[in-house]
Amino acid sequence: MSGIDSAINIDDLKRMAKRRLPKIMYDFIEGGVEDEVGLRTNAKAFSDLRLVPRYYIDTAKREQKATLFGRTYASPFGIAPTGMAGAFRKDAELFLAQAANDADIPYLMSGAANASMEQAARLAPRNMWYQIYGAKERRFQLDLVKRAIDSGMTVLALTCDVPVSSNRERNRRNGFVRPLRMTLPTILEAMLHPAWVINYYRQGGLPMLGNWQPYAASGSSPDQVADLFASQTPDPSQTWRDVEAIRSIWNGPLILKGIMHPEDARIAIGQGVDGMIVSNHGARQLDMMPSPLDMLPMIRNAVGPDVPLLLDSGVRRGSDIVSALCLGADFVLTGRATLYGATAGGLAGVKKAVSILQREIDLVMGQIGALNLDALGPHYFLETVRAEEERRNTGAMGGRR
Ligand SMILES: Cc1cc2nc3c(=O)[nH]c(=O)nc-3n(C[C@H](O)[C@H](O)[C@H](O)COP(=O)(O)O)c2cc1C
Repeated sequence: MSGIDSAINIDDLKRMAKRRLPKIMYDFIEGGVEDEVGLRTNAKAFSDLRLVPRYYIDTAKREQKATLFGRTYASPFGIAPTGMAGAFRKDAELFLAQAANDADIPYLMSGAANASMEQAARLAPRNMWYQIYGAKERRFQLDLVKRAIDSGMTVLALTCDVPVSSNRERNRRNGFVRPLRMTLPTILEAMLHPAWVINYYRQGGLPMLGNWQPYAASGSSPDQVADLFASQTPDPSQTWRDVEAIRSIWNGPLILKGIMHPEDARIAIGQGVDGMIVSNHGARQLDMMPSPLDMLPMIRNAVGPDVPLLLDSGVRRGSDIVSALCLGADFVLTGRATLYGATAGGLAGVKKAVSILQREIDLVMGQIGALNLDALGPHYFLETVRAEEERRNTGAMGGRR
């Protein structure tokens, strides 16, 4: 076994992606913000959870199919939007779309993708979702929604957690800022990754932002298109009225990505939003945010049992996905996990990441005695078991008195 085939977990794919990329690019994927407290917060939230198994339950025919917005997918997770993926591996978004199609899971394409939504939709006609960022000139965001309708996107996600740019110190130190200002050590380090460098120069530098290309003057370079995008987003003047405006032209499922406060969740429901992704953007925006996992139960309480809740940030294992579902999520998205796969091995790499997670979910379900996703719930957590036992013991003592 060699290359992608030898990866047995997501961490292996991450190491392969790291080997392939110059530090400046790897840091762009991996980095958080400022002191990177958030990255540790996200990882710890998952690693602190303990699942208590139940035995002698027939789980021979386990299945992990999940239904969301009336559509049944093969697994309870999909691919989160990651902008500029084409810079890590040429055509990465097309590989993500193709792999999502083949595995029958959704792919939420980034508004800052290098491929265009029209290209990706041809590869995954039933599995494409689209993510948009608000733009200073509203005509851009409204046109993007129209294009999402025309190209057959099935779910629209509006990212709300980027009101301003974030303080990504790794990028600033490496010179990954606009315009690109690579330092000499950065350039020398990049030479240690010749496959990526050759590809980078062959495609003429950083690739085009495919979804924004139609808005720039014809013949614009990728840099000029990126300048247009950067001049439009982030837009700190966005308000709930912008959500309302998008709601009024998009009839399909509309979700907000990055909701963290229960009150925002309640407001979102009042605005006619169909669901939300509880997310801290993979700890890439505000360093001191709690993990989405910690906010999930409060948000579930705020919106009630029927509103679809998705979760991302920090998912690296099938057990993370199972834990999020036990805690009240209906669905999970993976950002870096699938991006490592795309970077390390293109289509084969994404497929590998997806199959690793699917296998891990299946094994964890078998381990804890869950036949299907309906069997999951907070009753698997150590805290619940402990509280239940304490309640029984107190009851028993009370009975003896
Ligand atoms: C390289 C990279 C680019 C990202 N670009 C976007 C984006 O364009 N739009 C967006 O809503 N989220 C973006 N995100 C955030 C992801 O959608 C997702 O919330 C996050 O990666 C989840 O955390 P995880 O990487 O720990 O799984 C990006 C994340 C990464 C790592």
